[in-house]
Amino acid sequence: MTREPDSGSRSLEWDGYASTWLDETPQRLWRMHSDALNSQLCRRWLPRGRTDLIVKTDLFDEAVSDGIYTTLLDHADRVAAVDVSPVVATAAVTRHSTMLAATADVRLLPLRDDCADAVVSLSTLDHFTGPDDVTVALLELTRILRPGGVLILTMDNPSNPVLAVRNSLPFSLTHKVGLVPYPVGRTYDVRTMCRMTEEAGLDVTHVTAIMHAPRMLAIQALRLVDGDRLDTHSRLAGTLMAFEKLESLPTRFVTGHFIAIRATKPF
Ligand SMILES: C[S@@+](CC[C@H](N)C(=O)[O-])C[C@H]1O[C@@H](n2cnc3c(N)ncnc32)[C@H](O)[C@@H]1O
Repeated sequence: MTREPDSGSRSLEWDGYASTWLDETPQRLWRMHSDALNSQLCRRWLPRGRTDLIVKTDLFDEAVSDGIYTTLLDHADRVAAVDVSPVVATAAVTRHSTMLAATADVRLLPLRDDCADAVVSLSTLDHFTGPDDVTVALLELTRILRPGGVLILTMDNPSNPVLAVRNSLPFSLTHKVGLVPYPVGRTYDVRTMCRMTEEAGLDVTHVTAIMHAPRMLAIQALRLVDGDRLDTHSRLAGTLMAFEKLESLPTRFVTGHFIAIRATKPF
């Protein structure tokens, strides 16, 4: 567990995918929906009252869309974020000039022990090839959290049958047909993720699943509409959000695209 992360080659790879995304700006409406859902989750689960520092583990959301930076700023005086890709980090800071951003690997953060009141990790740890890297990353997030601090973690949900099929297909194929814009790594079901989170030294307080609209269908459908018309925006946003009612059903871990875990660092 003490080896150095192989960030160099990974950051170049992510730079490439991010540059293409920033040139083509695909999925504009879908990214707005994603930001709305992630903001909603953070408002539900972040500590009550104003805190000092929130750390976010990647900057893709803030690079390609508004992301959740302003939501996080409602809860903390400072928001710091990292991304392994300099292209992503630069694009995010261009949109949000007051954000404290750095190019760094989530497995080796340039932050001191016990400094963060909350860590928000949205689908970052599901880009590794194996569980050891997830464990290293979780230990790192635990290290920077202050006692009593909150981790909000989302990961691709392998119990969603659409994701299970997608992940069983070769990336060369899913990428070519436009299903997967960037590489996805290995992901774990909610029980396994809870166990790994607890083994890293955190107490899991809540679990759920979010993003219940059929993502692949919705992304294709949104491509066909005129994304610049405000009335179309709000109608579509309402329809997509209505799918989130599925979160209250026992089938949430079948329909949700992401599992979501809230955990705290013990005193
Ligand atoms: C494509 S995005 C998906 C995550 C995004 N938050 C979302 O929910 O759509 C993955 C992002 O994580 C970054 N990333 C990948 N591996 C990373 C690592 N080890 N440390 C920090 N950032 C990483 C990539 O550069 C990219 O910006």
